[in-house]
Amino acid sequence: IVRTFTQTAAMAAAIKNVTVIGSGLMGAGIAQVAAQTGHHVTMVDIDEVAVGKAKDRIGASIQRVAKKKFAQDPEAGQKFISSALEKLQISTDAISSVKSADLVVEAIVENLDVKKKLFAQLDEVAPSHAIFASNTSSLPIGKIAAATNRKDRFGGLHFFNPVPVMKLLEVVRIPETSQGTYEAMCDWGKAMGKVTVECKDTPGFIVNRLLVPYMFEAVRMLDRGWHAEYPENTLFEPCELLTNMVAEGKHGVKSGKGFYEYNKK
Ligand code: NAI
Repeated sequence: IVRTFTQTAAMAAAIKNVTVIGSGLMGAGIAQVAAQTGHHVTMVDIDEVAVGKAKDRIGASIQRVAKKKFAQDPEAGQKFISSALEKLQISTDAISSVKSADLVVEAIVENLDVKKKLFAQLDEVAPSHAIFASNTSSLPIGKIAAATNRKDRFGGLHFFNPVPVMKLLEVVRIPETSQGTYEAMCDWGKAMGKVTVECKDTPGFIVNRLLVPYMFEAVRMLDRGWHAEYPENTLFEPCELLTNMVAEGKHGVKSGKGFYEYNKK
């Protein structure tokens, strides 16, 4: 246990230099929050114009954050802005940008082959201790990690849009992800001000696995007409688990127990 803790603490403490690849909607948000929370960040994109514009957008967004966060203390707000911007570099050269990285977060186009090609190249040049993570929404992390020789230092860090606002971070582990890597990713997520939740490498992880069928059902309802009744639809069949829970008085918060136990204070 002591060794695990030491390794984890060492890895988490080591995440100071973060390279974010992709400066679109998600990459720019991740880079912004990382810089705001004191990390040295290099944000990379193949598109020079895009990465320049992303930096401008980040500047404007940090100003808005500072205005809110330091409403009573504009001087501290200015310090917050300049210190975050000083920590943010931009580049179009992924290879040289990972040479001193402790963590690489990829947020490029959602294409398995493109992501694999990128990680295979980065694996050759990044420091051996560096952790690689993908922000993919729908591709298996295991398939992306297979392009590298560091599966034990590979995982998913799935943020939500807009990154500076959304608190949740899904931390995805593949079977090969080491405990030290997993804990270092969680600790980094917390240092970014996020609430981390552990996910297995399954399609949609947690949030999209719940959200996408829910949204599809709304579309299907629209497709078949809202007023039609479908008594044969299995979706509306009583569920045994729920029936039993109701019979046992497990009514959720109001009864102090349901899927969870609630402590009355
Ligand atoms: P985006 O299209 O806004 O940005 C992608 C950026 O990656 C572009 O600027 C593009 O020039 C750059 N890029 C493409 N190939 C590259 C390469 N080989 N090297 C460097 N840069 C490259 O995409 P967005 O929405 O930011 O999504 C990025 C990733 O994040 C995807 O994997 C997506 O599934 C995931 N994601 C998206 C969410 C969303 O709400 N949009 C939420 C959570 C995850």
